[in-house]
Amino acid sequence: MSVVDDIKGRLDIVDLVSGYAPLTKSGNSYKANCPFHSERTPSFHVFPDRQTWRCFGACAQGGDIFSFWMRINNLEFSEALRQLSQQAGVALSENPGRRKERNSLHDVNEAAAEYFGTLLLSSKFGVQARAYLEERGLNKDTIKEFQIGLSPAGGESAKDHLLARGFGEEVIALAGLVTKGRGDTNRDMFRGRLMFPIRDSDGKLAGFGARSMDGSEPKYLNSPKTPVFDKGNILYGIHLAKGDVSKQGIVIVEGYVDTLACHQAGYSNVVASMGTALAPGQVSQVCNLLPRPGSGERGRVTLALDADAAGQEATLRGLQVLWEAVHQGKGRSTNRPYAASEIPDINVLVLPDGRDPDEVVLEDSQAWPRLIDEAVPLLDYRFSAEAARIDMSTPGGKSALAGVLMPLISATSDPFQQDHYFQKLASMLGVSEATLKASVEIARPRAASRRGRPRQPEASATPFDRLEHDPMEEHCLALLLQEREWISGDMQVDSEGYWLPEVAGGLRPEHFGRVENREVFTNWTKCSTLESLQWALDDELGAHLEHLLEKALPPMDRKVRESDLLNCIRRLEERYLRELKHEEALRLNEASLDDLQEQQDAILATNERMRQVFQP
Ligand code: UTP
Ligand code: MN
Repeated sequence: MSVVDDIKGRLDIVDLVSGYAPLTKSGNSYKANCPFHSERTPSFHVFPDRQTWRCFGACAQGGDIFSFWMRINNLEFSEALRQLSQQAGVALSENPGRRKERNSLHDVNEAAAEYFGTLLLSSKFGVQARAYLEERGLNKDTIKEFQIGLSPAGGESAKDHLLARGFGEEVIALAGLVTKGRGDTNRDMFRGRLMFPIRDSDGKLAGFGARSMDGSEPKYLNSPKTPVFDKGNILYGIHLAKGDVSKQGIVIVEGYVDTLACHQAGYSNVVASMGTALAPGQVSQVCNLLPRPGSGERGRVTLALDADAAGQEATLRGLQVLWEAVHQGKGRSTNRPYAASEIPDINVLVLPDGRDPDEVVLEDSQAWPRLIDEAVPLLDYRFSAEAARIDMSTPGGKSALAGVLMPLISATSDPFQQDHYFQKLASMLGVSEATLKASVEIARPRAASRRGRPRQPEASATPFDRLEHDPMEEHCLALLLQEREWISGDMQVDSEGYWLPEVAGGLRPEHFGRVENREVFTNWTKCSTLESLQWALDDELGAHLEHLLEKALPPMDRKVRESDLLNCIRRLEERYLRELKHEEALRLNEASLDDLQEQQDAILATNERMRQVFQP
């Protein structure tokens, strides 16, 4: 997995963490209040020489740049790898097997869309659906451009059609086009529904949204998560919006039909979040459409909400994710900051009296851009949404409101606006501006960048951490994965919630220092078969799994294999504990007596764990 090492070699953990926690130097390491839990004295440390981090406090977690990036941005490994590779300027190569699989999924989706399209446009069965679309105000060009279709009601017609076209049962199932019916036979997933093909930002056909026309539930049935489709990472219409984020920036609506109506009226800068609140993966897609930091341009995003979604917890969370991406670089493919004049505007439009964008735009297409222009800045929206949620008659409520809004106000780059919002908050809270100003720290110091500083190699507990592979970790995984009986036999859920065969009880993600091994392991504890593990992993990890499965092991009988495995696990535990001790020592060199006392329990716990492992 040299790409992982390549990335590690080019990014500096101190830089990366500085974007999220103000690090201060403390001997050979850096410390800060832990960004993963709230605390008053810093127990979060970054070790530049080893390029690792650890929280010695409540979360008791540690790792490398990958685990940090995954946790802080709440990402899966594949997305973290994609983002960090972009930051590092390292190209990801796709594993040929995976690429083939993705291609065949796109192909079978295209064939299905073509079939659904024909059924809508030229079958007798399509008459009603065509009338429905007409009634919704969608014209022939829109239907063509978005390839709207109709799925047959029969139950197996789509599957039979695809089989006849030469697609295998397996790929049809993997694409989510069929679902297990009674008696273990596959039935069509979508039956008698209006079909909306969903394309990713490259225009590849990833999945479908399907609307019922007879009132049956669910109103929209979407493709399940597949290797090419994940609703949280896709915005409907994005392949077309890509070329037109022009004058009014990007507009995010909720529904499929809303998107279609807007594009039909000529507003192709519109995409749909597909119902749910904005997900982090969607935010990262939005950011990719906006002008880049350094371009000198200011982007603009408008979120159009229907009255139901306005003010809801999930909606506010989505907006917060968007705000953090824009202001702090969180989840963006580059966390390079925007210049003050480039920070994208985020606006919110709540549509009047329960109307959807499709109704508005189809009734009067000129009204739409006016509404977008009148959308309110995120901060104003947050003011009214939070004020409606929080009871401000109590002191607790007041400080909660200030706690939510102050960070947003402080980050406002225009001093006049900042002043305006201060006044607004002060008057809402019924305190003087001076009081409010005195109670907050406006400027947040950022640690200076240390890029380019030479790294000093240092002796460490893991003899292999400068190699591309870790033989001990890989041997352990190969033993586990290659023994059919262990992997498909009786897995047991242990006290900490990991599904593992009994022999491997006690093995933990933290035993694996290399991120690819740790990821294969954690994914495996969630999968019941080798096949599902293969599906769960993305390209890079999939290739690594293949490597582990092909690793030659000496012939040995079950007993020998078992004791070999136990030995491995023990060695990994030893290594992990030595590493932990080493980091503790580095840290304690610098710590004050108070800190020491606070950490005593954790240290004693490590010592006890070491005593158990190292005693003969
Ligand atoms: P709405 O319920 O607001 O529907 O869901 P809509 O877009 O106005 O639908 P029409 O106009 O009646 O056809 C908004 C979006 O949420 C997703 C869809 O993407 C939908 O467009 N959704 C909704 C689902 O995925 N599943 C559902 O059951 C409902
Ligand atoms: Mn609607």
